[in-house]
Formats: sequence, structure tokens, C-alpha cells
Amino acid sequence: MSAYDIAVIGGDGIGPEVTRECMKVVDAAADVFGFQVRRTEYPFGSEHFLATGEIFPDAAFEEVRGMSAAYLGAIGDPRLPVGQIEFGIIAKMRFELDLYINLRPIKLYDERLCPLKGKTPEDVDMIIIRENTEGAYAGMHGFCHKGSPLEVATQTMVYTREGVERAVRFAFELARERNKKKQVTLIDKANAVRAHDLWTRTFAEVATEYPDIKTEHAYIDAACMWMIKNPEWFDVAVTPNLMGDIITDLGAMVQGGMGIAASGNIHPGRVSLFEPIHGSAPKHAGKNVASPVAAILAGSMMLDYLGQKTAAKAIESAVIELLRSERLKGVSTGAHPTNEVGDMVLAELRTVAAKV
Ligand code: IPM
Ligand code: MG
Repeated sequence: MSAYDIAVIGGDGIGPEVTRECMKVVDAAADVFGFQVRRTEYPFGSEHFLATGEIFPDAAFEEVRGMSAAYLGAIGDPRLPVGQIEFGIIAKMRFELDLYINLRPIKLYDERLCPLKGKTPEDVDMIIIRENTEGAYAGMHGFCHKGSPLEVATQTMVYTREGVERAVRFAFELARERNKKKQVTLIDKANAVRAHDLWTRTFAEVATEYPDIKTEHAYIDAACMWMIKNPEWFDVAVTPNLMGDIITDLGAMVQGGMGIAASGNIHPGRVSLFEPIHGSAPKHAGKNVASPVAAILAGSMMLDYLGQKTAAKAIESAVIELLRSERLKGVSTGAHPTNEVGDMVLAELRTVAAKV
């Protein structure tokens, strides 16, 4: 029987609640489809930091490095300096584990979830590949004359040929594997950020190796417009880090909100990290009102990555069945108690699994 070691960090705010529901579903899938998930739970997050001064100790980090996958509920806490915990946990994992792909599917599961008039599930089905280790997130920043009227603050976007190429190549491979529109759109801001010329050239060169894949290009501002106006134009899109961060929140709204959007931080073949896109939503924490659907779908992405494709598909189908059955009123906060949604997905999973 295949067995996987998973590091689980529930994290801050609503993170632990939605993680619990995800793990309920993952465990059930393991049971039904005959594999084993061995979870190691870590207490890291803002509460733990405030209590112990510890963010992500080296010993734990090294353990995680040796696992099959990691799962994160959410992090962020207004009591801490902006970015401190995010950089200590999420950025640390992305950078030190070299998780260079941030895979963000934007898929509308049911028409009534979409805020756009007249758009159906056929119109909203794309995957954004966000380059995940470079750009504005590379950490090259500094200040001088801090606090004085002469203060200067800089942050350099960093792009390497290798970093750009591996993201672009991943996108082309994915478009081929998906076999839908067989199209990759490059989203950048090369008309203003001149360093994006590296993206333009790399994209064009890699594209010559994939004559079966159509290429498109959109500047990020226009891409935001198309995402709303004609989301059906996208299949696979690849984009630098910061642009990917922004457009995937927009995409999340198009697919029904932060309560449904999931993601994977991936280094193919190595330990990779799965998480819902939403934040920790401190004001909803501990109230059992957050939607666990995004977290559950992140669990499905994790199983897919681990090679448990049937189990992953079954979880996704369970969520789809539930959404379309209209028993699930929605994925907005407070639509249902968090644990009840987990139970509903579980019940649906058993029905789906019986048919596999
Ligand atoms: C995301 C988040 C993070 C990011 C934050 C928490 C640093 O917004 O995963 O999209 O900007 O990458
Ligand atoms: Mg974001």
C-alpha cells in the first residue's frame, strides 16, 4: 500500500478549522482508495510565535524537507509586523524548498457561484502558473535614511533565465497534458517593466518546441480586463510572481470566491506545499463559519500531485456534486457551519467512490 508522509500546518485564524475538514476528507479518501497518509502536525503560526518566539525551527524544517508533501491552512495575524509570519513560513518554504511553480486552477463549478453575468462552467476553466521564487518576492530590497524625509526604499524584481524558463516550460507541458484549448498565454508587463523582455524572449523560444500549442500574450492590466470580460479566452497562463499573486485573487472571485480557490506550490518530484489561496480571516476564526471547500480542494490537489489521481478526482467530483445539488447554499463565509460542509463532502465522496 502506498504511504505518504504529510506535514500539516493549520496556522492562523481560520486555518486550523478548514485544515481539519480537509484532513477528514483526505483520510476518508485514503481509506476508500487504499493508501496511507501519515500526518505530522506542526503548531507553527502567529499564536505559537507569540507564545514561544519560534517561527519555523530548523529541525522541523528539515523534517518537512524529507516528507512527501506539506499542507498549510492559512497564516497572517494583525498583531504581528506586516509580513513577518508570511515570510517566516510561506516564503521560507517556497524559497528554501525551491517550489518554483504556484499552480492555481480557476474553475467555475456551478454557474450560480459566478459573479459575471452569463458565464458558465464552460467559460471559466483555466490554470494560472505563477512563477513562485523570483520577481518582486526575491527579497532584494533595502532602505536608506529610514524614517527621515530623505528616506529611499527600493525593491528589485529579479528574473533568471532558468527561473523564467522552467515556469514557462511547465506551462507548455501542462497545456499539452490538459489537452483542452492547447493554449498558453504569457501575462506580463513588458511594455513598462523592461526586465520582462526576458519573459518575452524565453516564452518565444520555448514555444518553438511546442508547435502543437497555441501562444497568446496579454499585459497584466489587459489580462485583468479579459479575466472579467472573456474568461473563456484563457486555458493555461504563465506569469511572474507578483502579477500571478494579484490576478489569481481576481480569478478566485470569478470562480466563486476565496472560499473555493486552492493552490499548489510545486517543485516537480520533490516535497511540495498545498494551501487554499485565502488568508487567515482573523475575524471569522473559531466561529465555525469559514468555507472549507478551498482547503478541501487543496487536499485534492495534494493527492493528485502524490499520484493518487483517482482519489483526487473523486474529492473534486464530490465537491462538484455537492455544489450542483444546491444542498450547499454557497461557499461564502457563514453559508454553512465549517464542519457540516466537511461532513457533506464526506458523504458525497462515499457516493462518488461507490461508482468508481
Ligand atoms: C498568496 C499570498 C501570499 C503571497 C502572501 C501571504 C505573502 O497572498 O499566496 O497569494 O503574496 O504570495
Ligand atoms: Mg495572494
